Amino acid sequence: MDDDVPDEAFKELHTGDIGGWGVAQIAAGTGLTVYVIWTGFVQPGFRRVPLRLQVPYIPASRIQVDHVMNLLRGRKGGFVDLGSGDGRIVLEAHQQGFTPAVGYELNPWLLRLARFKAWRAGHHEKVSYRREDLWKVDLTECKNITVFLAPSVLSLLQKKLEAELPEDALVIAGRFPFPDWTPYRVEGEGVHRAWAYNMQAQRQNSLKKNDSHEKQPQQ
Ligand SMILES: C[S@@+](CC[C@H](N)C(=O)[O-])C[C@H]1O[C@@H](n2cnc3c(N)ncnc32)[C@H](O)[C@@H]1O
Repeated sequence: MDDDVPDEAFKELHTGDIGGWGVAQIAAGTGLTVYVIWTGFVQPGFRRVPLRLQVPYIPASRIQVDHVMNLLRGRKGGFVDLGSGDGRIVLEAHQQGFTPAVGYELNPWLLRLARFKAWRAGHHEKVSYRREDLWKVDLTECKNITVFLAPSVLSLLQKKLEAELPEDALVIAGRFPFPDWTPYRVEGEGVHRAWAYNMQAQRQNSLKKNDSHEKQPQQ
């Protein structure tokens, strides 16, 4: 055994003389590790979703979940979380009496975790977590919807919700608001903020906006 080998390697690192090839190896190794973690654990199941629509997993905080539940107070019926992560919002909605309570999620690890948490809480037969792309889900029957997604996808999602949701639907956005909608209630501050939108009012606003655009004189 050559005891000097590790010492020499450390000395080489300390002097910073690892050369271009060494730098390339470290960069490739780090990049590969990040790529493996990203594709294997963070974003599996997203192969068919265009890159610009992919949203990473950032779970809602306890305060955010409480804000969502406050905004839902007085409502009943079905509940859907689009991009449900570990299922925390769906589980809480079920515990507050919403039924059916459904989460749509593409990441199989998060789906497993969500099902495990529902089972641990004794509600696994009452909530459902479905491996479906939220962009392909039919929303025509959904009355109460939450979305904790990235700002980059919200304007596109706005169009899908306007086209599909029933008139009496309530949409709650967490962390980021919808860019062109006007909330009728807001809960919380900063990153914990949640916005509630009434679908009927939203459609009326959109119609008014379109009317005023059409009435404007052509230049
Ligand atoms: C910011 S996290 C929110 C998770 C959860 N709603 C919460 O607040 O704890 C967004 C989630 O949406 C999921 N997601 C992103 N795009 C999706 C898609 N096209 N279909 C289904 N789920 C998607 C991600 O895997 C991620 O778990």
